[in-house]
Amino acid sequence: MRVMATIAGVREAVRAARCEGRRVGFVPTMGALHAGHVSLIARSAAECGATVVSIFVNPSQFNQAEDFERYPRTLERDLEACRAAGASIVFAPSNEEMYPRPLSTWIEPGAVAEHLCGRFRPGHFRGVATVVAKLFHAVEADRAYFGEKDAQQLAVIQTMVAELNMAVEIVPVATVREAGGLAMSSRNERLGAEERRAATVLYAGLRAALARLEAGEREARVVREAALETVGREPSVRVEYLEVADAGTMQPVERVSGPVRVLVAAWLGGVRLIDNVGFVPG
Ligand code: PAJ
Repeated sequence: MRVMATIAGVREAVRAARCEGRRVGFVPTMGALHAGHVSLIARSAAECGATVVSIFVNPSQFNQAEDFERYPRTLERDLEACRAAGASIVFAPSNEEMYPRPLSTWIEPGAVAEHLCGRFRPGHFRGVATVVAKLFHAVEADRAYFGEKDAQQLAVIQTMVAELNMAVEIVPVATVREAGGLAMSSRNERLGAEERRAATVLYAGLRAALARLEAGEREARVVREAALETVGREPSVRVEYLEVADAGTMQPVERVSGPVRVLVAAWLGGVRLIDNVGFVPG
């Protein structure tokens, strides 16, 4: 496994792999790798002859400087996880390599970033779309793997790739969960034991919503209420949003007539967690 810090270096390594006829898979991350990231890397390694993992804590997608500063940085451990999961190249650039000067060119996602997290984290998806586009230009991959855990991010990237004719295939990967159902996240480390237990109510709420949908309920209001009632059993969990949205456009729906996601964001103390489940009507 090679570790590269420059765009020129990773581009050359990827081009060499493609010249050898290897399919190139790409897993963009911000490091602090856990089993969720590892499942993306392992999936790419199973499907592609070469797998590139990027590790870059992207300042332009953080709403608060403080959140960026305290984001965990665990490079040595991350490199071990990449190696074990079958990565061939790790691209770990510095801030100066990615942003040598303030950007004047940005990718501004439209309606897909308007609701849900986009509403509560202004500018977040603009930072995500822009850095992912920059990474796609540095790492010219055939496929890029994204977690369904961040469903709106996935939709933002799929929309960007389709609308800007980017020659990369986006592969969604299912959410990896802890035994109690809590979706794996680097932010879980910031929860105390009691908060961690309380946080499992989020997935329980989503499952309650899913049960209604599977039983034939199509009114989003009823589905939401089922989820909110379950989540409400933990008073320490403060819901930021809980919506039923079209899976592709991320527009909230009133009635379910096509593929949807039920998405939740909630605060436990000072920690913000997100999760979602998908449903396709039969
Ligand atoms: P990060 O939060 O490090 O996540 C990297 C990838 O891992 C994303 O595609 C995310 O959806 C996926 N992931 C995280 N938790 C997961 C879980 N429990 N199960 C499955 N996949 C999971 O998302 C980002 O970084 C950044 O926004 C990035 C795309 C790298 C741009 O900076």
